[in-house]
Amino acid sequence: MEQTRVLFVCLGNICRSPTAHGIFLRLVEEEGLAERILVDSAGTHAYHIGEPPDRRAQEAARKRGFELNSLRARRAVEEDFERFDYVLAMDRSNFEHLRAICPTHAEHKLRLFLTYAPDLGVDEVPDPYYGGTAGFERVLDIIEEAARGLLSEIRRERGI
Ligand code: 4NP
Repeated sequence: MEQTRVLFVCLGNICRSPTAHGIFLRLVEEEGLAERILVDSAGTHAYHIGEPPDRRAQEAARKRGFELNSLRARRAVEEDFERFDYVLAMDRSNFEHLRAICPTHAEHKLRLFLTYAPDLGVDEVPDPYYGGTAGFERVLDIIEEAARGLLSEIRRERGI
């Protein structure tokens, strides 16, 4: 059975991308697709490698029923473009960092995550790291919407 592999990428891999990882994985599991779709996340920078998600991101997610505490930060590497089918950047800066390590033959795999939430009217998930709790709520709202859009697009594109 062919597996579809999805990688979410932000800067630190402790706020936005683990949130997307946890929420998207839940949707995948709810639709009975855990064996068909593999989910992971990574960061463009090395600051937080090996750390669990930011405590504020974990708390905000937990209030909505998503548990992120088993995730650990890692850095995105060129090889990720061989392994994953969808490499999804949270913002334009993440996108540019990824483009710099993306082999030419894999450029079609790299997209802004909010491509999958066209109705939101924004194309970047705002970095909540230096802000307050409202920023983490906004991140969750945006990611919940885009995760639904992404899953329906993958189901359509892959016929699953
Ligand atoms: P993330 O947030 O990219 O959503 O994980 C950040 C995490 C850490 C830093 C910046 C953003 N930092 O500067 O350490």
